[in-house]
Amino acid sequence: MKTAIGNDHAGLQLKEHIKKIFKDLDFIDVGAYSEESTDYPDWIAKVALAVQKGDAVTGIAICGTGVGASIVANKIKGIRAALCTNSLMAEMARSHNNANVLVLGARVLGNDLAVNIIEAWLKSGFEGGRHQKRIDKISELECGRQQ
Ligand code: RB5
Repeated sequence: MKTAIGNDHAGLQLKEHIKKIFKDLDFIDVGAYSEESTDYPDWIAKVALAVQKGDAVTGIAICGTGVGASIVANKIKGIRAALCTNSLMAEMARSHNNANVLVLGARVLGNDLAVNIIEAWLKSGFEGGRHQKRIDKISELECGRQQ
């Protein structure tokens, strides 16, 4: 089960830490690979597209605050990206929102908190049931059927 992971310059250090801690995850690292200033949409779109295409089942997208990364990832059809700043958000993002991309803000979170968030994300799973109907409504909005 592959996980796409990507970042801008602000997220590089956290990405490397995550790769070191979660050695068992089969990461597709889409970059960026240096701390030279770069544009987060370029890298975060790669994470989201890897998930959309099915190259990865889920993604982790990292920028400085996570805000830019979540905006970008949620532009890609089929992507439900969740910016999480604690474990409960990560657990619920999967169990209720069936999020397929976890977004982290490297300048907001310490390494340890980011690891806790990912652990909660990995332990959780979509509950389905009443939540599926709500996910279907999100998909309808994406298709522009409400307009
Ligand atoms: C880069 O300086 C910063 O703007 C970016 O990492 C991110 O926080 C954008 O939302």
